[in-house]
Amino acid sequence: MLRRSPLFAGLNEQATQDLLTAMTPLRMERGDELFHEGDPGDRLYVITEGKVKLGRTSSDGRENLLAILGPGEMFGELSLFDPGPRTATATAVAETQLVGLTNDQLHAYLSRHPNVALTLLAALARRLRRTNENVADLVFTDVPGRVAKALLELSGRFGRPVEEGILVAHDLTQEELAQLVGASRETVNKALADFATRGWIKLEARAVLLLDLDRLRRRAR
Ligand code: CMP
Repeated sequence: MLRRSPLFAGLNEQATQDLLTAMTPLRMERGDELFHEGDPGDRLYVITEGKVKLGRTSSDGRENLLAILGPGEMFGELSLFDPGPRTATATAVAETQLVGLTNDQLHAYLSRHPNVALTLLAALARRLRRTNENVADLVFTDVPGRVAKALLELSGRFGRPVEEGILVAHDLTQEELAQLVGASRETVNKALADFATRGWIKLEARAVLLLDLDRLRRRAR
């Protein structure tokens, strides 16, 4: 799983082993918070198993989810590359295993493997693209369109082909799904119920079965 992470891209066996030895493993249960928005940050993390949500809270207590990350994905690097407080709160949404690398370890590692810096830049650039797209969607796309897009994005990360379609075990509550889409729970539930009535999806507990990907893709545009 770790080999899928940008940190490990292109490393030979020895370098992979060196990096793994330097990293500290840790384990979290659903609901455990790894760090909080505003905390000082001293390490980045790579997920080996499970899911982590990255969220921000507004001054009146509303929550917005920036992303749900899964195996092979990295987070916590912003406060290392641009020293400052954590820009989001990281919470496990399923049983999760991670490995952590401290700032000092990362710097020493990058000076030995400068090529990895390019892969990290590519990962950050990809994230910026996705974030720009999300911002545009918040302005230009209606809630059902954003719900369709969120389902497709979750399926890219966590989807598994089954006989009827793609099963996406996202582990999110309806409230968390709404926070990811950036709309109220009622509006998001209405969109999901409408998709289910049309036969595009089937709702299950903390999972969704995608039955008609073409229609969802068209609705997401
Ligand atoms: P850091 O600021 O150290 O802690 C929170 C982490 O969330 C941040 O590093 C990034 O790794 C991650 N993060 C912040 N914004 C986004 C985003 N828009 N999409 C995905 N991940 C993000």
